[in-house]
Amino acid sequence: MSFHILYPKPLPPRDNQSLPNENGFTATEIASLRNGWRHFKRRFGYHSKQIFMKFYQEHEQMLEKFRNRMGKFNMQQLHRHPQELLQVYGNLIEQGLDNMTYMHVLMTAISQRHRMFGVTGYEIKLQTDHITLYILALLEKIISPTFVSGLEKLRRLINAYHCEDACDELLEESSNEALHN
Ligand code: HEM
Repeated sequence: MSFHILYPKPLPPRDNQSLPNENGFTATEIASLRNGWRHFKRRFGYHSKQIFMKFYQEHEQMLEKFRNRMGKFNMQQLHRHPQELLQVYGNLIEQGLDNMTYMHVLMTAISQRHRMFGVTGYEIKLQTDHITLYILALLEKIISPTFVSGLEKLRRLINAYHCEDACDELLEESSNEALHN
């Protein structure tokens, strides 16, 4: 004689793929961002130049942040920045999304440097908006809604590290929002 357990019913297996991690990203968002990033990286130098040119054409006044005390442009910094900036995206996507400590150490150092140079949270927001739109247009044909939501969370996260007031609350809000998405 065989017995079938009718009650309690076994719980369905837990779907960890759709649960956000401590940084607010789901496993599918991380996989999707990494996949998209591989395409971006193939022409990294080209894309970083495009992003730089278009951004400073629209927001020429931001070049002022790269002047030294003598009022001259620090050409080295200016030249380096487009690649450094996108390398941050690369580092976060490849190593930071599932590593809270790495993400926090990297972003804290960068936001401190920006504060030293008087770069505001609003200016960072303009830049992250610009990058998000560029990446979405570039990968338009191959991206999924998961990629879009992952990229949006990344944008919010970078912005949150640069907010001037109530940073802790905003950071918390950003990861709470991520948790509820
Ligand atoms: C997505 C947004 C941005 C990211 C990820 C980013 C990333 C970086 C990184 C990695 C550094 C070098 C930090 C270091 O060496 O310690 C840096 C420095 C700097 N960034 Fe940004 N940046 C962003 C947006 C901006 C914007 C919008 C401006 C100006 C309006 C700006 C101005 C500067 C300046 C003046 C420095 C210091 C110069 C230097 O260290 O070379 N950044 N940024």
